[in-house]
Amino acid sequence: MDAFKPHLSGLGAYPYRKVDAAIKLDQNESPWDLPEDLKNRALERMRLAPWNRYPDMHAEGVRALLSRFLEWPAEGIVVAPGSNFLLLALAQAAKRVLDTSPSFAFYEGAARVTATPYRSVPLGPDFALPVDGLVREMDEGEAGVVFVATPHAPTGAAFPVPDVARVAARARERGWILAIDEAYCQFSGTDFRPLARENPNVVILRTFSKAFGLGGVRAGFLLAVPDVAGKLQAMLPPFDVPVHTAAIIETVLEFPARAAEVGARLAAERDRVIAALGGHPTWRPCPSRANFFLVRTPDAEAAWRSLLARGILVRRQDHLPGLAGCLRVSVGTPEENDAFLRAAFEATTD
Ligand SMILES: Cc1ncc(COP(=O)(O)O)c(C=O)c1O
Repeated sequence: MDAFKPHLSGLGAYPYRKVDAAIKLDQNESPWDLPEDLKNRALERMRLAPWNRYPDMHAEGVRALLSRFLEWPAEGIVVAPGSNFLLLALAQAAKRVLDTSPSFAFYEGAARVTATPYRSVPLGPDFALPVDGLVREMDEGEAGVVFVATPHAPTGAAFPVPDVARVAARARERGWILAIDEAYCQFSGTDFRPLARENPNVVILRTFSKAFGLGGVRAGFLLAVPDVAGKLQAMLPPFDVPVHTAAIIETVLEFPARAAEVGARLAAERDRVIAALGGHPTWRPCPSRANFFLVRTPDAEAAWRSLLARGILVRRQDHLPGLAGCLRVSVGTPEENDAFLRAAFEATTD
């Protein structure tokens, strides 16, 4: 078979292995499902929508609500079945992709799938944004898209506005696009829309998968100037946000404060768990502004197994540069977090 482009032959699957466990703290999801009354409202909206007709071509109904909620022009909003599709479109459009190392795996994945030249710059000490390194890369060769997640995945670091602004300023000078991935912004209370309003080379990515509690629904969106949004929209297939997804998103956007409330509750839980882990004899939690945190252990494999033996699933990150011994723990319900803490302290006595 000789039909496919040669770069696809070396591609592997996204690095995720499904493991069953009583307490699931491995995918940075919200531990809370949508409340029953909201689910019923969404189901009713779904029931009333015609299923035989195609949905809006470009999620016009959802975009109009997002426009009001986020004070962003609807022509600058693109909605997709998960922000991963928007990452893919950005990587496909870009002449080059640049990001930090480590970072969210699909930035590199999207570059590889689309055969886009890819480079990464190591994070600085204490997981700082490597501004000088990113600027150096942008100064060389062709322009492209640079991805910066803040709060950052998988470290949880929230980068100072002046650091991100320096990257944005150089991106603008050199013709790059800076894609700021705010998947976790409700847990940090940070908001880079003001930077994007001042700078047409900045694109903001957000998702319904985290603080909105809709990981299973698959919806994310992007904010950009209309010219950039229009190009990215044109790259996505028409009618790509189905009628049921639109019904659910339109329902949750009737209560737009909910995501921030969930974000604040989980942020308080995160701070409680990190503080408690501070008393651990050998594990060292890293500060985080997201709904997850890294914990450095003497032996990631042994720590992961020991937690799993107690019914708790977390994610190993020790294969990533600079993260030797690290596990990534999502913040769960207070009960789940207590169970995690008990297991973590027991693990030392194994
Ligand atoms: C930084 C970051 N961006 C994007 C995504 C993917 O979001 P979505 O579920 O909208 O595809 C994730 C998922 O974990 C993430 O961590």
